Amino acid sequence: MRQKIGILGATGMVGQRFIQLLENHPWFEVAWLAASDRSSGKPYGEAVRWKLDTPLPERIAAMPVSPATPEGAPRVIFAALDADIAREMEPQFAAAGCAVISNSSAFRMQEDVPLVIPEVNAEHLALVESQSWRRASGGYIVTNPNCSAIGLVLALKPIEERFGIEAIFVSTMQAVSGAGYPGVASLDILGNVVPFIRNEEEKMQEETLKLLGRLNGNRVEPLGAKMSAHCNRVAVEDGHTESVSIKLARKATREELIAAWAQFAPLKGRDLPTAPAQPVEFLAAEDRPQPRLDRMRGAGMAASVGRLRPCGLLDWKFTVLSHNTIRGAAGAALLNAELLVSLGKLDPVAVPA
Ligand SMILES: NC(=O)c1ccc[n+]([C@@H]2O[C@H](COP(=O)([O-])OP(=O)(O)OC[C@H]3O[C@@H](n4cnc5c(N)ncnc54)[C@H](OP(=O)(O)O)[C@@H]3O)[C@@H](O)[C@H]2O)c1
Repeated sequence: MRQKIGILGATGMVGQRFIQLLENHPWFEVAWLAASDRSSGKPYGEAVRWKLDTPLPERIAAMPVSPATPEGAPRVIFAALDADIAREMEPQFAAAGCAVISNSSAFRMQEDVPLVIPEVNAEHLALVESQSWRRASGGYIVTNPNCSAIGLVLALKPIEERFGIEAIFVSTMQAVSGAGYPGVASLDILGNVVPFIRNEEEKMQEETLKLLGRLNGNRVEPLGAKMSAHCNRVAVEDGHTESVSIKLARKATREELIAAWAQFAPLKGRDLPTAPAQPVEFLAAEDRPQPRLDRMRGAGMAASVGRLRPCGLLDWKFTVLSHNTIRGAAGAALLNAELLVSLGKLDPVAVPA
């Protein structure tokens, strides 16, 4: 039998992706949907402005939107709330015994909350055992990173583990769907670039170093690399593109870097339904990756890299692309949940002795 799950923030951009990705999922079944008071009490089909290019499933359209409280909610909750609301609401669900698998930034940097990309730092999930909610009710919070940190870190991890990384420079070109719906006003973005996304550069920097950090007892020691991020919003619908330069601890050739990406398959053998066979795809063409052409590689779960060449300031530079609402949000949380199942931490959510 499939495990019943709920979605908090089900009507938003990320909430809609959850519904799309969970349709026909072999392990999970959507059993509960919640959003704000504006939507609560309505059938989901009436409350949502469905923006995806696959039809809204009929069963989901007919489901009622529930109030966003833990009473009556399933024990597994995918959360897609704005950070301010998540900060208040996610602990209520964790305290009530739910496994909260969150997309929001509210708790990503809290010391006892794992910030996880399954291919990168699955071992950080052990932190849930030190959460007070876990000890009291069995509930906990697990987070996935900011949508621009995910693609970058997938590309950096195989290089970091082979050669070490001392410095990272990144400049992003981020899609408008990353700002939710309705997001950036069309008059602000059409024919334009906005060189500011509030708090994004700070999030990218601190999250990247936590993700690449080392678990030491009940805390993560962040990677000791220097990092500088520039974040820009561009008139692209989906898919964040990033120009990256890195300084390595040990020298590497172009062939060695490409081999590190090609051989990166840390989840092989776990059989997680949402895991891409090849998490990082190297594209040899001189003008790739591009968001429209490459964002759906690995069903939207793979990061594409290309344009690898020597850097005049650091050692190497390249381009990374990843789908911001699939790999960067709902797909990331879904893969975290699948990993939790495979580690026996989700089904059923057990109160530790
Ligand atoms: N978009 C991306 O690419 C992306 C990527 C990674 C992470 N994230 C993060 O994921 C979260 C959701 O982003 P989004 O783009 O999906 O935002 P969004 O489109 O603005 O959706 C927000 C959702 O939260 C609900 N909500 C608002 N106020 C609420 C309240 N008081 N109580 C309960 N529910 C409430 C909304 O319901 P109503 O429809 O009823 O208002 C809606 O379902 C954010 O933290 C964002 O930073 C987004």
